[in-house]
Amino acid sequence: MDFFNYKKNGLAAEGVGVARIAKEVGTPVYIYSRKTLVRHYDAFESAFTTVPHLICYSVKANSNLAVLKTFSDKGSGFDIVSGGELFRAVKAGADVKKIVFSGVGKTDEEIEYAIKKKILMFNVESPQELRAINRIAKRLKTVAPFSIRVNPDVDPKTHAYISTGLKENKFGISVKDAVSEYAYARESLKNLKAVGIDCHIGSQLTQVAPFVAALEKVKSLIIKLRKAGTEIKYLDIGGGLGITYEAETPPLPSAYATEVIAATRGLDVTLIFEPGRVMAGNAGILVTKVIYTKNSGKKSFVVVDAGMNDLTRPSLYGSYHAIEPVRPRNREEIKADIVGPICESGDFLAKGRKIERVEPGELLAVKSAGAYGYTMASNYNSRPRAAEVMVAGNKYEVVRKRETLSDLIRGENAKLSGLAPAKSKKVLKKGKK
Ligand code: LLP
Repeated sequence: MDFFNYKKNGLAAEGVGVARIAKEVGTPVYIYSRKTLVRHYDAFESAFTTVPHLICYSVKANSNLAVLKTFSDKGSGFDIVSGGELFRAVKAGADVKKIVFSGVGKTDEEIEYAIKKKILMFNVESPQELRAINRIAKRLKTVAPFSIRVNPDVDPKTHAYISTGLKENKFGISVKDAVSEYAYARESLKNLKAVGIDCHIGSQLTQVAPFVAALEKVKSLIIKLRKAGTEIKYLDIGGGLGITYEAETPPLPSAYATEVIAATRGLDVTLIFEPGRVMAGNAGILVTKVIYTKNSGKKSFVVVDAGMNDLTRPSLYGSYHAIEPVRPRNREEIKADIVGPICESGDFLAKGRKIERVEPGELLAVKSAGAYGYTMASNYNSRPRAAEVMVAGNKYEVVRKRETLSDLIRGENAKLSGLAPAKSKKVLKKGKK
């Protein structure tokens, strides 16, 4: 459920016309609906009211400060995977005691930063990382709280690039090794304190069964660990709940909650969730303008001003995003590739898509772009990144300015004053020695 609806003058984000925002802010532009973000948060939160729990919104899905602030104001914690995400969360006013830190490659600097900020816990993904956190905590004369991210070897039945809970994936520690790592930490790593256990099996899951299968494995592990004397207060079951992009029918948070609560009954833990996509995905659209239309003799193309650098999901995962005219005009339907200006054939937002015929200057809305849209954007082809706008009721605000041409070269150095000049070689004329 979202608050992007067609009104008399075309698509509106809550009470604000999308065409008006495009006119005033320019395109491409990401537009987020605050009411939708809040609604998604509330739906998740209310599904779990009967059990102790903490929502840690997954910052990677959409890390705009205004989005983080919206969740932080609701009492959300955060799941972070880098020092950069910690910095953003802190800037957005997050309660650091509600931050969990996941990721396979935490550096010493990131670990130190998180220890100093006193986050809730590290979700540890390898034996070496466990020792690194202990070493750094010792140097800082403190004790760091941790969970081990276990890899339950369960197939989440999603796109291969976003499956994380299989043995062949780089994430987490096997259930077997987790037992010995907790034991080793208990006995020998005095600057660590186990507080929980963590598991995240993948993203865009459309069934509950894989979550339950993973929970079954984690459950017996918790019992084993407690017997051995390890305290397990938190059970972090990660994120991963899918959304509808096209015709998927993922479980609603309420159905997901029913199964998760049943699978964890009697465990006496505080559940932690790290939802990203289900919070932000359908709360955002990407608005783009048609630049040209053309036909190759074989195919129709609609060339728009947003490319794979703005929204990379279709190119990277072959993902589907619904694309609709901001102002439908009842023209005939065509079948076209909707492509960006980038010099790669892999630069497309949709392939062979049936869409009402559009003309240059008209606007298209790319739906479900609130998660993994802007956060995965780049400057490829030296394209300034888009603006981001947050709508709340009848008002909107630019929450990130469109990048300028100067932003593109910020930090670059063409003077090379410390290096000898790279002189061009004299070209010898033919026949001369
Ligand atoms: N927790 C951890 C440890 C994760 O790695 C992720 C996502 C989440 C939580 C949030 O998962 P969600 O609830 O959003 O499914 N770029 C891809 C998605 C990558 C997901 C990476 N990890 C896409 O555009 O589909």
